[in-house]
Amino acid sequence: IRPVVNMSVVTQVKISFILFGILGVDEKSQVLTTFIWESLEWQNEFTVWDQEECGVEWIAVARNLLWVPDIVINEFMEKNLAPSVPYTYLHSSGLVYDGLPVRVVSSCSLNIYLFPFDIQRCTFTFNSYIHLSDAVQLELVGTDQDIFQASINKMATMGEWQLVGIKSEKVVVPTLEGSTYDELRFFVSVRRHSTMYVVNLLIPSCFLITVDLFSFILPIQSIDRSLFKMTLVLGYTVFLLSTNDLLPNTGNTIPLINVFLSLCLTMMVTSLMETIFITNLLRGSAHYTAPPRWMKAFVLRFLGRLVGLPPKPEPQEHLVFKNPDTREMADVPTESKGNETTERKATLKEAETLQVLKNLSRDLQAIHRHVVQQLKGSPSSEDWIQIGLIIDRLLFIFYIFFTSVSFVSIIIIWVA
Ligand SMILES: *[C@@H]1O[C@H](CO)[C@@H](O)[C@H](O)[C@H]1NC(C)=O
Repeated sequence: IRPVVNMSVVTQVKISFILFGILGVDEKSQVLTTFIWESLEWQNEFTVWDQEECGVEWIAVARNLLWVPDIVINEFMEKNLAPSVPYTYLHSSGLVYDGLPVRVVSSCSLNIYLFPFDIQRCTFTFNSYIHLSDAVQLELVGTDQDIFQASINKMATMGEWQLVGIKSEKVVVPTLEGSTYDELRFFVSVRRHSTMYVVNLLIPSCFLITVDLFSFILPIQSIDRSLFKMTLVLGYTVFLLSTNDLLPNTGNTIPLINVFLSLCLTMMVTSLMETIFITNLLRGSAHYTAPPRWMKAFVLRFLGRLVGLPPKPEPQEHLVFKNPDTREMADVPTESKGNETTERKATLKEAETLQVLKNLSRDLQAIHRHVVQQLKGSPSSEDWIQIGLIIDRLLFIFYIFFTSVSFVSIIIIWVA
């Protein structure tokens, strides 16, 4: 029976604990594993002796020979695997001191949205499993601050977690039958050490995005930029695969870091598609019809000036035709007005030669025009190339804008 002479006397159980280790958090099964030293004190009115006469103040007694309060932690999910201590200590005044190590696997609602900058708050609820408030009442020894300070001093293993606070609260919970029972709640806050995740996940992602950003500088006409970007996307995919173990996997919420990583991949894939589109415009434009007038006006004049690529001045064509020699040659026959037949014959011959030369010149001009066309592409193709370059520059600006805005907003969410 409960060790009181008069059954209407309540047994006060004093509870305290020291958090000795934070062993880990399992996001999937939503449990926090900790190691605590629990200590309980209560009064046993049947084990009182005279210290003077017996000559001893404290004695150790096997726990299973005594009444011990049935204090449990409500959040317990597993059997206590800590080594069992068979003894309790008795004082001559009847005080019983019971201390035992407990490996607490407690259920805890984990919110990993802010991973790896998350703080988890888990509750340990101590209460007597069957005794009501009229039989057993719970009391905290010392204050929250004492427990927190002692835990900080004694903490041996924290893993990737850091203890940031312990708060306690005593609650008297009414039962359905009209009586009450005592509960002592401890709120344990732990913060994750995020350095490892920043170094292994966030910084490499930022580097790859930066490389992707800089690849826009590669001149698209002479270097196959899409090949470069494809390699980057491939590299990032391998990176994601290899770091997959670091990410928490849980069904209920998607952590912000997953959004961040997906965003990086999306940006890379989008810029790859953009490059493919621009490459198509630049290389395949020889077979396109001329761009429509509105597009020329809008893209070449307006957008071109906006992104700093103003339309080129019209190229001066047919420079060769302004060769002064051709004009002189044409003028020669009209000026010569010889009367003699020999001279006439000579002129006739000259005219013939002139005709041949003129034909030759026309042929040469045709060849020249053809070669120039082959080298420079058709005027419509040139327009398309200019349009491609302008759109490339414009999308690059959009890309920088979107990347910085989304990164800054994610960082603000994390910091706040
Ligand atoms: C037990 O304690 C209550 C209140 O303290 C008292 O009314 C009652 O008489 C006591 N009973 C005995 C048997 O001492």
